[in-house]
Amino acid sequence: MLAVHLVSFFFSKLQEDPTKKVDRFLHAMRLHDDRLSDISKRFLAEMKKGLSAESTAAAAVKMLPTQVRSTPDGSEKGEFLALDLGGSNFKVLRVKVREDVGIKKGGVEMEEKTYPIPNELQAGKAAELFDHVSESLKDFLHEKNISPSNKHLLAFTFSFPCEHPSLDQGLSVSWGKNYRVRGLQGKDVVQALKEAIGRTGDMDVEVLAMVNDTVATMMTCGFDDQCCEVGLIIGTGTNVCYMEELRHIDLVEGDEGRMCVNTEWGGFGDDGALDDFITEFDRDVDAASLNPGQQTFEKMVSGMYLGELVRLVVLKMAKLGLLFDGRVSDALRTKGNITTADVAAMEENGLKNTKDILTRLHLSPSSDDCIAVQHVSTIVSFRSSNLVAAGLAAILTRIRQNRNLRGVKITVGVDGTLYKTHPQYPKRLHKVVRRLLPDCQVRFALSESGSSKGAALVAAVAQRLTSQRRRVDEALSLFRLNQQQLQLVKSRMREGLEAGLRGKGCTVKMLPSFVYHTPDGTENGNYLALDLGGTNFRAMLVRFKRHKSQLYHKIYTIPLEIMQGTGEELFDHLAQCVCDFLDYMGLKKACLPAGFTFSFPCEQSGINKGTLVSWTKGFKATDCVGQDVVFMLRDAIKRRNEFDLDIVALVNDTVGTMMSCAYEDPQCEIGMIAGMSHYLGEKSNVEADESKMCINTEWGGLGDDHSLDDIINPYDAEVDIHSVNQGKQRFEKMTGGMYLGEIVRQVLLDLTRRGLLFKGHVTEPLKTPGIFETKYLSQIESFSQVVKETVRVMAPQCDVTFLPSEEGSGKGAALIAAVVQSINNI
Ligand code: BG6
Ligand code: GLC
Repeated sequence: MLAVHLVSFFFSKLQEDPTKKVDRFLHAMRLHDDRLSDISKRFLAEMKKGLSAESTAAAAVKMLPTQVRSTPDGSEKGEFLALDLGGSNFKVLRVKVREDVGIKKGGVEMEEKTYPIPNELQAGKAAELFDHVSESLKDFLHEKNISPSNKHLLAFTFSFPCEHPSLDQGLSVSWGKNYRVRGLQGKDVVQALKEAIGRTGDMDVEVLAMVNDTVATMMTCGFDDQCCEVGLIIGTGTNVCYMEELRHIDLVEGDEGRMCVNTEWGGFGDDGALDDFITEFDRDVDAASLNPGQQTFEKMVSGMYLGELVRLVVLKMAKLGLLFDGRVSDALRTKGNITTADVAAMEENGLKNTKDILTRLHLSPSSDDCIAVQHVSTIVSFRSSNLVAAGLAAILTRIRQNRNLRGVKITVGVDGTLYKTHPQYPKRLHKVVRRLLPDCQVRFALSESGSSKGAALVAAVAQRLTSQRRRVDEALSLFRLNQQQLQLVKSRMREGLEAGLRGKGCTVKMLPSFVYHTPDGTENGNYLALDLGGTNFRAMLVRFKRHKSQLYHKIYTIPLEIMQGTGEELFDHLAQCVCDFLDYMGLKKACLPAGFTFSFPCEQSGINKGTLVSWTKGFKATDCVGQDVVFMLRDAIKRRNEFDLDIVALVNDTVGTMMSCAYEDPQCEIGMIAGMSHYLGEKSNVEADESKMCINTEWGGLGDDHSLDDIINPYDAEVDIHSVNQGKQRFEKMTGGMYLGEIVRQVLLDLTRRGLLFKGHVTEPLKTPGIFETKYLSQIESFSQVVKETVRVMAPQCDVTFLPSEEGSGKGAALIAAVVQSINNI
């Protein structure tokens, strides 16, 4: 008691200037620019923590990715119902973005109704709260004469932190402000709403998107101002969102573009980062709140707490005898008796409001008391706007750094009762932000009509994306073959194989290879393998010794003009490559036995004789079809007259692959190359002593008689039309590496032309045949598991092992040469 009198005596000396004693009493709340810059830096560091995968779990500022990837671009349209839950009012709305008006101002029409939320529901069970929300929705439909049985699309503003696996899912992180609802932690809020709508019954509602109020505010303001990339709420709570570069958001895959991040900055300081700024009044407010220890920054800033802060300061000053001659009323002692609206009112309209408010609290203020209490309100609300300015400066600095700019022109969309109703708040905030960031052009856009317009815009984008995704899926469904279709392909392939064995002129040619044996591991010596398969020619030396092999090879590209020139030029080119290789290996004089892998359909009449049936895979060198390719190669070698070879075997790459794998696994009886295969089988029309011979099926030709027309889609047809062998190799064109990239390009081109990709913008490169290489597909998808799984389903009675041919078919050709030589030598 004595202490109170002493303090009272001391301060009575200063009574002539009531604001000074308040300044002194609240000096910890008065933040000058250097302290604000310090807070700004701390907030920047917190943002980084929240964005990084390593530190996000422990971060006080959560930095939640929202799945919103762009601000409005003018293409949004549609009619939506909207729910706005979590601010000071719960509202149900109808929002129409008129199609004929598009994005021009006034293009949005809204009707709304506010529904009270009883206190017990704010602290009750989640299901009860959402039942109330859904019943309010039904009431709204009824009142506005909207048929509940028609399908309605719904946008949901939910002003609490959520993690978003997608736009229409939000996993509740926590409640806050005046809500403490049970039973939703970690659960999907949208699901809870859907279930409640189901319980209410008789409504057909699809929830398209759920967004935080900051995001909805940014979108609302972004509708009129393309520069709006920040959404700020200074209302019951406070929070900010902004467009962040995707490459900085560890929790979301992908590096291209931006995504809106809901910072949940209300939690700034929960880990102690603001301890040196926190006053005893902040601590008292926190202790009496629904969520002690949480939302430190929010409790220093937002509307829900400012009145209470002022009350606690005034109470303490009165108790110390600094106000009301030391008299304190019960009303002043009662929590909630000074509201944020009172704070705003006290700062407005001279001292009259202050006097009325204090009198309402059963106090008898002198005019000095009124001046002092008004000043308390000013300091408390000034601190709030200063703290928001410091946080916002950090956000804008981050955006500026992200874009590597000195200055930045940006619009901040703002909503919230405190910002909207406190007469001086906006001006103070704008001034400090501009002072802290002199290089930035910052505009503040007020979201006059609340956040639901923005939520509806997000829903409109979600709807457009859903319908786009559906149309893309429809296009891609042409490539998804069901079991029945696969069974049909299987039986047609079987028929094709059997017909090919019976006679000539079939689509599946079933060419004899004259290879009767797979290797037995006793092969010995040096062999040359020449491999012409596609765009490359490989020359290879293979050394077999005691079940081991050593390989040396060189790769030569075949220029397009050679692939499509004359036969003589092509084989001269091959001879030149072989000559170079032998030179390189120092074997020009060796006259080695050679296997020639020639991966085109050849009618063989012996192991080293074969006439080309037709070119495939982009080759069309003249004067080759109908000629013996071994003979042509020998001729070219003769013309060159620099070396000699003993070409003992002509081998298809499938045969080479089978031999190569059979060297590792004697059970290997099938070789398959990306769409061409052969198998060991009996060929009745070939005379031989042996019971088995390897057949090159040339299965790529299946469908050349239109037997696959029912699974060939328009993209396949387009690829065929532009190929060098139109109408031929239809199975190969659906499976082979040479064509898959081109099929993908056709799909991309079509989807882009239909406006479903790249905003409908068809670029020149996309129009260029061959630009999308098949290797990109293997980078995107890991195309072999599917083959294995489908074979298992389609041939359940077979136990099939897939053995990748590590060294290609060249080693197989050398093995065949070795096998042939050993037989010849017997
Ligand atoms: C409203 C928005 O205008 O402002 C809400 O529509 C938002 O979505 C609210 O939550 C925030 O302000 P307050 O003051 O109502 O919390
Ligand atoms: C609280 C909520 C946040 C919301 C803000 C403004 O801070 O956690 O999600 O945006 O209030 O309403």
